[in-house]
Amino acid sequence: MTVATQLEILDLRHFSARQLRPLLEAEARIWEKQLRWNYKASTELLLQYLDSRILPGFVALDRGRICGFTFCVYEGHKAVIGDAFALADDPGQTLSIAHTLLHQLLQLLRYSPDIQRVESQLLLYNAGTIGEVFLAAGFSLYPRLFMEYDLLRSQLAVVERETVSGGLKREIPGESGVQVRPKAEPPPHIQLTAWTAEHYQAAAELIHESYIGHIDARINDQYCSLHGSLRFLHNIVRFPGCGVFDASSSWVLYDRRNGALVGMVLCSRVADDVAHITQLCISPRYRGHGLGRRLLDHCTGHLARTGFAAITLTVTEANQQAVALYRDRGFSIRHRFEAMVLDKA
Ligand SMILES: CC(C)(COP(=O)(O)OP(=O)(O)OC[C@H]1O[C@@H](n2cnc3c(N)ncnc32)[C@H](O)[C@@H]1OP(=O)(O)O)[C@@H](O)C(=O)NCCC(=O)NCCS
Repeated sequence: MTVATQLEILDLRHFSARQLRPLLEAEARIWEKQLRWNYKASTELLLQYLDSRILPGFVALDRGRICGFTFCVYEGHKAVIGDAFALADDPGQTLSIAHTLLHQLLQLLRYSPDIQRVESQLLLYNAGTIGEVFLAAGFSLYPRLFMEYDLLRSQLAVVERETVSGGLKREIPGESGVQVRPKAEPPPHIQLTAWTAEHYQAAAELIHESYIGHIDARINDQYCSLHGSLRFLHNIVRFPGCGVFDASSSWVLYDRRNGALVGMVLCSRVADDVAHITQLCISPRYRGHGLGRRLLDHCTGHLARTGFAAITLTVTEANQQAVALYRDRGFSIRHRFEAMVLDKA
């Protein structure tokens, strides 16, 4: 098929990992620059899948030269579009190739009767740049934020302020003009403890409970069931897609009175000096008592002390409470992207 100038779109399964490697390595460099994310482990995993020729997707060729690819993975009746990347001489052309590839993949999924739902979050694309392809195919779009806490800059701020004020004042996240509500002290029966694999089942139950009726459960349907929440946890802890899980920077809260797990913060390493918070949640019955703030502060404090330069996370823009919490604790918006969801039912 010929699109625009000399563009050819072919089935991804015709291509070997070796042929696609240069493009994936170029993409990894952009992840590093744009999101401070070392994408090498994900690249190697993806190359293995590509060599097994099982991934549904497409490759774009410009006069015989590979210039873009897209793929999805099937999870039962759901397809997750894992990537769409293109590289051309100018940004307009690059975007146009990505649009063409996505259009092709969406057509494939539209006419796949077994696929009832499609989800995608393509982090490299700014909000408003690829949304129209998805909107045209009937998707709903949810703006999301990629937030960053620059620990080096905040430590520099401490030094500067200590110099100015004669060493009396410490930098406290939330002091920077953000309106802060009165701080509730966490109840004394709540205990913080390090994450261990023993928490697995209770953690999945907590995730499921935390996202009932939540906007994120519309974006990621794994949150909608216990089975899905276990799978979500499994992906975070065992696969490098969200960085390499860092048990030593992950904590849970439990209620000493009944032993119930009531909160957790999970963290991955996405570069040598960059951590990524993959999950923060508090059981609905325990919210509004400062527990989310306490967990986050414990985690960021630990990461700062152990030499990390930055912490990143993603959050749905409409999740105002979480966004307020992150802003209050020193995070700022680095990038705005979109989650795309199609529910055929
Ligand atoms: C976001 C979440 C972790 C907050 O936990 P929490 O224990 O209720 O939060 P806290 O009581 O520690 O409040 C922390 C901050 O959140 C913000 N916040 C809390 N309740 C708020 C409200 N009703 N309105 C506005 N901001 C609010 C404030 O900044 C607050 O800080 P303050 O108490 O110093 O003013 C919790 O609501 C949750 O689990 N939500 C579902 C899962 C989720 O959305 N996770 C984040 C995904 S990225």
